[in-house]
Amino acid sequence: MNHFLDIHLTDPQDLRGMINAAAAMKSARNGQPKALPDAEQPLAGRMVALIFEKPSTRTRVSFDVGARQMGAQTMVLSGSEMQLGHGETIADTARVLSRYVDLIMIRTFEETVLQELAEFASVPVINGLTNRTHPCQIMADILTFEEHRGPIAGKKVVWSGDGNNVCASLIHAAGQFGFDLTFTGPQTLDPEHEFIERARAAGSRIEIVRDPIAAVEGADLVVTDTWVSMHDSQSTKERRHNQLRGYQVNAHLMAAAKPDALFMHCLPAHREDEVTNEVMDGPQSVVFDEAENRLHAQKAVMRWCLGI
Ligand code: CP
Ligand code: NVA
Repeated sequence: MNHFLDIHLTDPQDLRGMINAAAAMKSARNGQPKALPDAEQPLAGRMVALIFEKPSTRTRVSFDVGARQMGAQTMVLSGSEMQLGHGETIADTARVLSRYVDLIMIRTFEETVLQELAEFASVPVINGLTNRTHPCQIMADILTFEEHRGPIAGKKVVWSGDGNNVCASLIHAAGQFGFDLTFTGPQTLDPEHEFIERARAAGSRIEIVRDPIAAVEGADLVVTDTWVSMHDSQSTKERRHNQLRGYQVNAHLMAAAKPDALFMHCLPAHREDEVTNEVMDGPQSVVFDEAENRLHAQKAVMRWCLGI
């Protein structure tokens, strides 16, 4: 059994195996109706718990549909409605859930909740987003890039905006998948130095360039995300907008990247803030392929966790 807690904690060969498995499962479904089970039923007889302490559309639906397509039954639990949200310890929650279910996915605030759940669960635990990271999203992003442009190794990826949880997992992936990453944004919103150093130690070129136009030169992929994440206080909104306005992904910025550069956003997007409608809906945008690929990538992650 394997926990999927973070990209940098997962063996690069295993990560590659999951991307390949996701692509194979996607092509095997070949557009058949979404409620039809996969021909293979690797999760038949399994029970999957999906715990959300924050809102979600894609993570919730992709895990639920994906688990069912593979033959599992699922339950979606809201953290606030569990005893977990009313004083029961994470360790006891982990011990109890392990007696009922075969796999736990959790979206939470503090990374320590995820870590403690994994420590005390005797079934695999998957990170469905914490304040610090969002590894499942980046698995879908790698799959999406490679579907459109081939191997991501050696490519230049630029992140424009807030150095947040999604950015952190992209930096981890740079180290594990061997691509280069340039961060462009204000210094106060830089990604954690520890993440940058780890990816550099793995051989990736990680740069910080304050000028967004200079940053995207030669980019194969431009990525952004919301300027205010779920864990950020809403009172930071106006300040964030002032800090990040110059890092909006718009046609002018995309024109400075390679002509065939792709645009990605994990969604939900705040149109006309971090990205213009023109780019979101334009020919370089693959945001809805990215959203679809959450399904295929999450199926591969669940299989890997269960070793099947
Ligand atoms: N990208 C993503 O994780 O979306 P949700 O918040 O809708 O799950
Ligand atoms: N950075 C965003 C990602 C949402 C999928 C957040 O944490 O709110």
